[in-house]
Amino acid sequence: MHDVRCRPAGPEDVAFLVAMLGEAAVWRPDKPTPSGDQVLADPRYARYLAGWPMRGDYGLIAEQDGPVGAAWYRIFTEVTHGYGFVAEDVPELSIAVVTSRRRQGIGRRLLVELIEASVAQGHRALSLSVVGANPARRLYKSVGFVRVGQHGSSWTMIRHAARSN
Ligand SMILES: CC(C)(COP(=O)(O)OP(=O)(O)OC[C@H]1O[C@@H](n2cnc3c(N)ncnc32)[C@H](O)[C@@H]1OP(=O)(O)O)[C@@H](O)C(=O)NCCC(=O)NCCS
Repeated sequence: MHDVRCRPAGPEDVAFLVAMLGEAAVWRPDKPTPSGDQVLADPRYARYLAGWPMRGDYGLIAEQDGPVGAAWYRIFTEVTHGYGFVAEDVPELSIAVVTSRRRQGIGRRLLVELIEASVAQGHRALSLSVVGANPARRLYKSVGFVRVGQHGSSWTMIRHAARSN
């Protein structure tokens, strides 16, 4: 078996990214994951990938004998944005790992490499939205995301590129 490796996502990865968006959108293991068609037909979710790749989009695919996870970000506007929007110059990230490969460090690796890419691209920060009950929250905190807002049960978190720790 090959090692897990992360590579930039391209237009050919859209079907896998949509599948991962479905996993992130309905993250609770007891709830059915929406199909790719359902994800793209739902404006709450489709906005995270419609037209991929658009200007400013960046993503990574984790692969090990095929794709096993993805993390990506998109730049939104005041008019049209996702749940974790904080500013037009702060991209919002999404992440998911295929069910059978979770808790093996793949999500952390994707997240760390995506943060590094965002810093290299000159972004001052990244944001995200996570339901407070999602254990992913601990992963985000461990790499420097802090809560800056709450909408219902969802937290908006931000990680500044210029951190002191
Ligand atoms: C969140 C997700 C991307 C993390 O990827 P992963 O490869 O499983 O994560 P890692 O193995 O790198 O684990 C990193 C940390 O995440 C946290 N974590 C993730 N899933 C967890 C779970 N089910 N229970 C407890 N902690 C969990 C832990 O803090 C863990 O650190 P630890 O292993 O040192 O305890 C993955 O679980 C996933 O795809 N979940 C469903 C989609 C989702 O919720 N996306 C985020 C929406 S905001």
